Amino acid sequence: MQFQHKDLLGLKELTREEILFILNHAEKMKYILMQNSKKTPHLQGKSIVTLFYENSTRTRMSFELASKYMSASAANISANGSSVAKGETLIDTARTLDRMGTDVIIIRHSASGAPHLVAKNVKASVVNAGDGMNEHPTQALLDMLTIMEHKGKIEGLKVAIVGDIAHSRVVRSNIYGLTKLGAEVAVGGPATLMPPEIEKLGVSAYQSVHEAMIDADVVMGLRIQQERQKSGLIPSLREYHRFFGVDEQRMKFAKPDAILLHPGPVNRGIELTSGVLGLEKSLVEEQVTNGVAVRMAVLNLLTRGGRCSENFD
Ligand code: CP
Repeated sequence: MQFQHKDLLGLKELTREEILFILNHAEKMKYILMQNSKKTPHLQGKSIVTLFYENSTRTRMSFELASKYMSASAANISANGSSVAKGETLIDTARTLDRMGTDVIIIRHSASGAPHLVAKNVKASVVNAGDGMNEHPTQALLDMLTIMEHKGKIEGLKVAIVGDIAHSRVVRSNIYGLTKLGAEVAVGGPATLMPPEIEKLGVSAYQSVHEAMIDADVVMGLRIQQERQKSGLIPSLREYHRFFGVDEQRMKFAKPDAILLHPGPVNRGIELTSGVLGLEKSLVEEQVTNGVAVRMAVLNLLTRGGRCSENFD
């Protein structure tokens, strides 16, 4: 097994074996991350740039820390503080970074497909850190790593993903990844936040949260993405919480040993209560740690360009 991709743009285009290969590599990276001294030479001499056109705490910081832990030169550029604000195009900005010798460009953009466009126009590897409502592959990988650590497997599990399905790139990447690894995926949320024909992706869909959660091994809450919503999709946040929020009572529809995930940032009291976030089964903070391990693995695999085999460490 080799990982031979130039870019990581989504889980739609990866095979089951490639996803497992990244997860296996991330487990090794997590071991490094848990040591007192996290510094490794894996990315010595490489340069990594994060190019974010949308806000981020977890994704941007974890890529930057992963780069630094692995001895790369890391820099970040945001739309507001760059020549993008003077009218430079996305491709011109990316090609400028490319000509500076950047090895990996990590991009987040509000337009679906923006990382794919950049990838076609630069020599550097490109990582999709979230494109519009399309994909967020490293988020789904860290979600799957967290599930594997706690459940020992993904095959045969029922994963309920609930909330704002329509606007979520996290749900799309998770559906591609989880179904390839043999999980049963159920999505639940208000009809106005449920994309038409989502069942064609191989999931079952419910217009309530509790129906999707029945006998689930894993419950994943999603953020209400107010920045992407047209007005009128939900009557009010208070009503959304009442009918679709995950609290300790609704968690009882899932299996007693179910785990709870959320990609963050969490709107406390809207999609999840503080009470449910405080339960032992809530792994939201552990997901953040696994995010660094997954991003270390992805950067390492991409910068080794097709020389990564089963025994590679
Ligand atoms: N989960 C996630 O993408 O979080 P950020 O927006 O903070 O990066």
